[in-house]
Amino acid sequence: MRRMRLNTLALLMTLVTLAFIGALALSAAMPDSKKKPPSFPQSLFAQAKPEDYVTDDTCVTCHKSAHASAGNSPHALYVQNPKNPLDKRGCQACHGPGNNHIDHLLEEDKPFEHVISYTKAKPEEINAACLRCHTDTLTMAHWQKTSHARANIACTACHQLHWSDRTGKDRAKEPAAEDKKTGRGVSLRDTRSPVFPAAAEPKALLKADEPTLCGQCHKREVSEFRKSFHHPVPEGKMVCSDCHDTHPNRDNRKRLQTGKQNCITCHGKMAGPFVFEHDPVNSLSSEGCVQCHRPHGSHNPKLLVTFSRGLCNQCHSDKANNHYPGLSCWTAGCHSSLHGSNHERFFFAP
Ligand code: HEC
Ligand code: HEC
Ligand code: HEC
Ligand code: HEC
Ligand code: HEC
Ligand code: HEC
Ligand code: HEC
Ligand code: HEC
Ligand code: HEC
Repeated sequence: MRRMRLNTLALLMTLVTLAFIGALALSAAMPDSKKKPPSFPQSLFAQAKPEDYVTDDTCVTCHKSAHASAGNSPHALYVQNPKNPLDKRGCQACHGPGNNHIDHLLEEDKPFEHVISYTKAKPEEINAACLRCHTDTLTMAHWQKTSHARANIACTACHQLHWSDRTGKDRAKEPAAEDKKTGRGVSLRDTRSPVFPAAAEPKALLKADEPTLCGQCHKREVSEFRKSFHHPVPEGKMVCSDCHDTHPNRDNRKRLQTGKQNCITCHGKMAGPFVFEHDPVNSLSSEGCVQCHRPHGSHNPKLLVTFSRGLCNQCHSDKANNHYPGLSCWTAGCHSSLHGSNHERFFFAP
C-alpha cells in the first residue's frame, strides 16, 4: 500500500516534471510558430546567407545602364558605404540578395520572385522595400492611413531612383498605360512637358515638378490653377505639398488637415483671435475657410466661391429679401472686416 503510494507519488512527480518540461519546450517553440514568416520582399533578406550577396560588379555584367543611372542617385553615396550591413549595401539594398536572382534566372515562369523588381512587384511590396529604410519619414502604419495607400499606389508613382544624368532631367517620363493607376516603374517612352513651365523645380527625387506629377492623376485640381485667381503654384511660388502632405507622420499631422488649420499656417492673421468673431471663420469646423474660398483657384477675386451677396446668403438667408447693401456685403463699405473685428460686432471696422 505504502509502496503503491510512493510509486504513485513518483509517477505523479514524473508526470508533473514532464508536463513542466513539455510546457517549457512548447513555450520555447511558441514564438516561432506564432510569428508569421516575413513576406516578400523582406523574405529575400530574411532567408539570405552572407554568401548570397554578390558585389555590384556582378550586376554590371548584365545591367550596364542601370549601374550608371543608380550611381547618379543620392542613394549611391549611402549604399556604397562599406560600413553598412550587407543588406543595405549596393544594388542589393534595394533589389535583394543577388545570388538568389542569378540562380533562378532560367526559371522562365518566375524570374521576378527572386529579385525586387520595381516594375513588376505589387505596390505594397514596393512600399515595404522602401520602408525598410525610410521609417524616419513615415512608418507603414502612417502610410496605410493615406488615401494613396488605400488606392494601391506605390512610392515609385512619385519617386524615381535611377537617373540617367545628375541633373535628373529624365525625370518627367510617362508611365506605361497599365502602370498609370498604381504608378509603378517608369517607361522611357516619351518625355512629358510640364503643365506650368514656371512651376517650382522638383525636389526629393520626384519624377516631375509637382503640378505635372500630381496632375497625371488629379487633372481637375491642377486645372483649377488656370483660373484667373489662384494660389501661385503655376508661378512656382508654391507647391501642392505646401498644403497636402503625402507623408503624414506623427510630427506633421497638422498638414493632414486641409481646412482652417492648414490655411492659417500662412494666413495667421485671418483667423484672429478677434473680440468679435465671425462664426464660420473662427469656428473649429473642419470646413472653415473653404466655405467662402476655393483653395486652388477661382474665377472670383480673393479666391471667393462667389462674388456676390450670394456668398453671405448661403447662411444669412434671412437677409436675402430685406437687406440691400449693394453688389456685395463687403465691398459696399459695410462689412469690410468680415473675418472678425476688435471694435464692432457687425464687422464694419477692423
Ligand atoms: C547573368 C546576368 C545577370 C546578372 C549577373 C544579374 N542580372 Fe538582374 N536580370 C537579368 C535578367 C535576364 C533579368 C530578367 C529581365 C527581364 O526578363 O526583363 C533580370 C532582371 C533584373 C531586375 C528586374 C528588372 C525589371 O524589369 O524590373 C532587376 C531589378 C535586376 N535584375 C537586378 C539585378 C541586380 C541588382 C543584380 C546584381 C546583384 C543582377 N540583377 C544581376 C540578368 C542578370
Ligand atoms: C535606392 C534603391 C536602388 C538602388 C540602390 C538601385 N536600384 Fe535599381 N531600381 C530601383 C527602383 C526604384 C527602380 C524602378 C525604376 C526607377 O525608379 O528608376 C529600379 C530599376 C532597376 C532596373 C529595371 C529598370 C531598368 O533600368 O532596366 C534594373 C535592371 C536595376 N534597377 C538594377 C540596379 C542595379 C544594377 C543597381 C546597382 C548598380 C541598382 N539597380 C541600384 C531602386 C534601386
Ligand atoms: C538601403 C536603405 C534605403 C532604401 C532601400 C531606400 N532608401 Fe531612400 N534614402 C536612403 C538614405 C540613407 C537617404 C538619404 C541620402 C542622402 O540624403 O544622402 C535616402 C534618400 C531618399 C530620398 C530623399 C532624397 C532627397 O533629395 O532628399 C527619397 C525621396 C528616397 N530616399 C526615396 C526612396 C524610395 C522611394 C525608395 C524605394 C524605391 C527608397 N528610397 C529606398 C536609404 C534608402
Ligand atoms: C503621391 C506622391 C508620393 C508618393 C506616392 C510618395 N511620395 Fe515621398 N514625397 C512626395 C513629395 C511631394 C515629397 C516632397 C515634399 C515633402 O517632403 O513632403 C516627398 C518626399 C519624400 C522623402 C524626402 C523627404 C523626407 O521626408 O525626408 C522621402 C524619404 C520620401 N518621400 C519617401 C517616400 C516613400 C518611402 C514612399 C512610399 C511609402 C513615398 N515617399 C511615396 C510625394 C510622394
Ligand atoms: C498615380 C496616381 C496619383 C498620383 C501621381 C498622385 N495621386 Fe493623389 N490620389 C490618387 C488616388 C487614386 C487618390 C484616391 C482618391 C481618389 O480617387 O481621387 C488620391 C487622393 C488624393 C487626395 C485626396 C485626399 C483625401 O483624403 O481624400 C489628395 C489631396 C491628393 N491625392 C494629392 C496628391 C498630390 C499633392 C500629389 C502629388 C504630390 C498626388 N496626389 C499624386 C492618385 C494619385
Ligand atoms: C493653398 C493650399 C492648397 C494647395 C496649394 C493645393 N491644394 Fe489641393 N486642396 C486644398 C484644400 C483646402 C482642399 C479641400 C477642399 C475642400 O474640402 O473643399 C484640397 C483638395 C484637394 C484634392 C481632393 C479633392 C476632392 O474632391 O477630394 C486633391 C486631389 C487636391 N487638392 C490636389 C491638389 C494638387 C494636385 C495640388 C497642386 C497642383 C493642390 N491640391 C494644391 C488645398 C490646397
Ligand atoms: C504655404 C502657404 C499658404 C497656405 C497654406 C495657404 N495660402 Fe493662401 N496664399 C499664399 C500665397 C503665397 C498667396 C499669394 C499672395 C500674393 O500673391 O500676394 C496666397 C493668396 C491667398 C488669397 C488671395 C489673396 C489676394 O489678395 O488675392 C486667399 C483668399 C487665400 N490665399 C486663402 C487661403 C486659404 C483659404 C487657404 C487654405 C485652404 C490658404 N490660403 C492656404 C500662401 C498660402
Ligand atoms: C464668410 C466668408 C469667409 C470666410 C469663412 C473666410 N473668408 Fe477670407 N475673405 C472673404 C471675403 C469676402 C474676402 C474679400 C474681402 C476683402 O477683400 O477684404 C476675403 C479675403 C481673404 C484674403 C485676402 C485678404 C486681402 O487683404 O487681400 C485672405 C488671405 C483670406 N480671406 C483668407 C481667409 C482664411 C485663411 C480664412 C479661414 C481662416 C478665411 N479667409 C475665411 C470671406 C471669407
Ligand atoms: C457658413 C455660414 C456663414 C457665411 C457664409 C457667412 N456668415 Fe456671417 N455669420 C454666420 C454665423 C453662424 C454668425 C453668428 C450667428 C449669428 O449671429 O447669426 C454670423 C454672424 C455675422 C454677423 C454678425 C451678426 C450679429 O448679429 O452679430 C455679420 C454682420 C455677418 N455674419 C456678416 C456676414 C457677411 C457680410 C457674410 C458674407 C461675406 C457672411 N456673414 C457670411 C455664418 C455665416
